[in-house]
Amino acid sequence: MPTAQLTLDPRFTIGAVHRRVFGSFVEHLGRCVYDGLYEPGHPTADEEGFRTDVLELVRELGVSTIRYPGGNFVSGYRWEDGVGPREDRPKRLDLAWHSLETNQVGLHEFARWNDKAGSELMLAVNLGTRGVLEALDLLEYSNVRSGSALSDQRIADGTTEPFGVKMWCLGNEMDGPWQLGHRSAEDYGKIAAQAAKAMRQLDPSVELVVCGSSNSAMPTFGAWERTVLEHTYEDVDFISCHAYYAERNGDLAGFLASAVDMDHFIESVVATADHVKAELRSAKTINIAFDEWNVWYQERFHAEDQITDIEQWPYAPRLLEDAYHVADAVVVGSLLISLLKHADRVTSASLAQLVNVIAPIMTEPGGPAWRQTTFFPFALTSRLARGSALRVELSSETYRTTEHGDVPLVDAVATHDPETGATAVFLVNRAIEGPTTVTVDARSLGDVRVLETHTLNDDDPYAVNTLAEPTRVAPVTNKSAHLQDGVLTIELPPVSWTAVSLG
Ligand code: AHR
Repeated sequence: MPTAQLTLDPRFTIGAVHRRVFGSFVEHLGRCVYDGLYEPGHPTADEEGFRTDVLELVRELGVSTIRYPGGNFVSGYRWEDGVGPREDRPKRLDLAWHSLETNQVGLHEFARWNDKAGSELMLAVNLGTRGVLEALDLLEYSNVRSGSALSDQRIADGTTEPFGVKMWCLGNEMDGPWQLGHRSAEDYGKIAAQAAKAMRQLDPSVELVVCGSSNSAMPTFGAWERTVLEHTYEDVDFISCHAYYAERNGDLAGFLASAVDMDHFIESVVATADHVKAELRSAKTINIAFDEWNVWYQERFHAEDQITDIEQWPYAPRLLEDAYHVADAVVVGSLLISLLKHADRVTSASLAQLVNVIAPIMTEPGGPAWRQTTFFPFALTSRLARGSALRVELSSETYRTTEHGDVPLVDAVATHDPETGATAVFLVNRAIEGPTTVTVDARSLGDVRVLETHTLNDDDPYAVNTLAEPTRVAPVTNKSAHLQDGVLTIELPPVSWTAVSLG
């Protein structure tokens, strides 16, 4: 049986675990909002039409910050359509997803939903088809207490207190030719700098995210980040990363190593940001908002299949409703490990998305809501990862992949909260054929015991939770965990993700 060894030491700190790393993303896309989190008439709907069964799952998932309202959608969005009396709100054609947008959920409704979910609202402004003025208008409407035209309009529209939105994305995926208003790095860098300066003039406390690349395979990757940051460096706080992974051509071994790509992506963007810092002789450090990441089987979605008829604009169509299997969840768990391994620079992240659309939570109109397999590693990591992320000095056998070269069979990260003493280890076993035994030297933690273990795996790595069988897959206690003389030994089944909490 292969083995791996790691060492836990609270002194091996990478950086604080920022709660915003456990963010998510709600886009007006498919059934994420309509017939997802919002379904008036559903037996569990509250007085505002929000499904309380979905809200309960969102709270259990432990999401911190929710990015809204897109995604590609935002590049055609007029935020004013979503405020004021609902009966007066226009129906619009959403070009990004070829759908009908009824605007029955807008800023006020979504802000209230966030309060109910216990999450922080993060907004994106439209820098695709709109510009600096509209971004300023939205900021004034959202964050100014009263006494100006737009703040008073917000009050008249029903919300007395400012929304107080701190995190703002300056557009979405502006490097992508599919984006409405797609621009070159030069052109986007200029408008993003203007928007950022203007927004800070209005509210100096905002934290701004400038668009990085839509993925690391974009032909402009690297050069895009450099040019955009050369224009915006002193005016923004974060640069975004987006990455989606999928099993391709039956290459499960390669798919399980997806986090190797995420590691490389993060380290490349950090290097580029630091290069610009040096060039500009700046004292400031730009961090990463990994504000879209997940497993997504993009080849199942063909935009051109959607656009069939100029007269047909479906309302809440079933789009991007991937059913996630066990291996997908193991990859999601390993991507979380990658984010935590870079806790010093990745200080915000958003699992894309939250409900129905490439989501950890699925719903059926008039029916139940259930947890996808990917729900579990997210919820457990969000709950157990506290304090600081720790390097674990891992030693593991490797295996060969076509896409990522030689990859460690096991990957891991730990977290430790010096105030409570709570320690957690997150591990992934990428071996397909059999278990791997891991020994964890935890002697530096003193007299601790194993509090919880959770292992997600299945004899069938392609098992899924569905409407018919919503609880087919769930994590179980790992009974092999054994701590003696400060050394933890645990057996990780093949294609598995595990969390262990010590205290
Ligand atoms: O999350 C789905 C889509 O993926 C988003 O709208 C876009 O930003 C990305 O390409």
